[in-house]
Amino acid sequence: MEENSEKKLRSSNWFGRSGKDGFIYRAWMKNQGIPDSEFNGKPVIGICNTWSELTPCNGHFRELAASVKKGILQAGGFPVEFPVMSLGETLMKPTAMLYRNLASMDVEESIRANPLDGVVLLCGCDKTTPSLVMGACSVDIPTIVVSGGPMLTGKYRGKNIGTSDVWRYHDDVREGKLQSSELRNIEAAMCRSDGHCAVMGTASSMACMVEALGITLPENAAIPAADARRKVLAQLSGQRIVEMVKEDLKPSDILTLKAFENAIKVNAAIGGSTNFVIHLLAIAGRVGVPLKLDDFNRLSKNIPLLANLQPSGKHFMEDLFYAGGLPAVLKELRGILHNECITVNGKTIEENYKNAENYDTDVIGSFDCPFNDATGLAVLHGNVCENGAVIKPSAASAHLMVHSGKAVVFENIEDYKARIDTDDLQVDANSILVLKNVGPKGYPGMPEVGNMGLPKKLLEKGVRDMVRISDGRMSGTGFGTVVLHVSPEAAMGGNFSVIQNGDVITLNVKERSLNIALTDEELELRKRNITLSSPLVDRGYVNLYINHVEQAHLGADMDFLKGKSGANVPRDSH
Ligand code: FES
Ligand code: MG
Repeated sequence: MEENSEKKLRSSNWFGRSGKDGFIYRAWMKNQGIPDSEFNGKPVIGICNTWSELTPCNGHFRELAASVKKGILQAGGFPVEFPVMSLGETLMKPTAMLYRNLASMDVEESIRANPLDGVVLLCGCDKTTPSLVMGACSVDIPTIVVSGGPMLTGKYRGKNIGTSDVWRYHDDVREGKLQSSELRNIEAAMCRSDGHCAVMGTASSMACMVEALGITLPENAAIPAADARRKVLAQLSGQRIVEMVKEDLKPSDILTLKAFENAIKVNAAIGGSTNFVIHLLAIAGRVGVPLKLDDFNRLSKNIPLLANLQPSGKHFMEDLFYAGGLPAVLKELRGILHNECITVNGKTIEENYKNAENYDTDVIGSFDCPFNDATGLAVLHGNVCENGAVIKPSAASAHLMVHSGKAVVFENIEDYKARIDTDDLQVDANSILVLKNVGPKGYPGMPEVGNMGLPKKLLEKGVRDMVRISDGRMSGTGFGTVVLHVSPEAAMGGNFSVIQNGDVITLNVKERSLNIALTDEELELRKRNITLSSPLVDRGYVNLYINHVEQAHLGADMDFLKGKSGANVPRDSH
């Protein structure tokens, strides 16, 4: 970071111009009722908005943008709000993940092509955070993230509920313990306010990630969407981005390898989403930080679960906020964080958490007295996954952490749906369910189907968890002994693609291994005889995606999007 108030504003290449070009750049803006004085050298701040009624988690973002705008004006900036592709987790098919990279391209090109000196990213639902951060990092002008905040905790018949209960209620209905008509009442009780999923799912993990990385103001992660303090944070972020432009404090100044290491440690301690791995790798790829899948193991290994939040624990994001928010968690981690890392407010992460207090030790544990000794993330290696796979031990079953069983293989999701509840499926509680062809290229887009439901006949016998393995992802709100992100995915023709029914697979989370009882020669022989079926999409974005998406262990970004093209002002348009 360099103090450089003399630096010419990027936007002056538009609004500071004379003659025909300056006329064109200013005149059409003036139709929005903008006075001439706004164009006199004020920092132009973009508010990158993912508001959409098709992204319900971000449905309150126009109000949030209004608060950001207030802050920008107060600090002497010139706010301009613009929309980008919004990725709604619940409605988009086949999966919002297919479009994360597309949205990141939208963000990157929208920022670079326009007269912006700084940008505020409004992020909420799962993929809206990584896509915006990835895009902004590839431009690298001063950037601050404002998250939309979690929903209030759902309340149903005297019980606290949240997204993780969707999977439980689903099993209850299949087991006959709950009337499916009752689900309609539960739906309304669960999503009762503005905001994203109220558990430590992917959206909350992303909100914690950006705070841990230092690209938000302190406390960003946990303030509920419906709490007035969320608007205050948005306003303060609007004020701060104007100063950041003057200081020329850019993402690349903040997002060092140490900042990424902090984020990984925090994610382990909060039991964050497995999706965090893929998104953080993709962001690091844009910044040019050499982060590897195995770094997550190295850095998470000795970190117990401190946050007692669903799906690993009991409480909700609202409770985390009342307990002191992420700053209180960071303070518990002070012995292992890189405390000198700088953040968007110009202070170090340590200065930001210094005055935090833990008001509820049932929500936030300590290193000496953690909520669970199991860490939030483990990376597995072995001949099932030559390039790795991940599991979330904190949300898995202790008795399955070392387990051998025979594979019950489903070649794709349709195969799984057709056979999982049939009487003649050869399966018992010790079996290992294997689901193929749900990876980045194979599906395409890597959907959240990895925590596939258990066979009905085993549920009826009271079985509540089994080892499941796939090349797909799992919702951050999901739980169970679920191995995900197998790389290379089945569609790439690695070992995973040739696993057959009855093969014996051994998961050993203690040793971080996942192996199949076959020799290299046997695997090679099988691979020689496979025919790969790839989905036939011969045009459009999906075709581009399939041809360029990288494997999960690299972050599933597209190969040509890695790195950045910077913020140079493009050539004139007229
Ligand atoms: Fe949007 Fe969960 S569906 S955060
Ligand atoms: Mg999801």
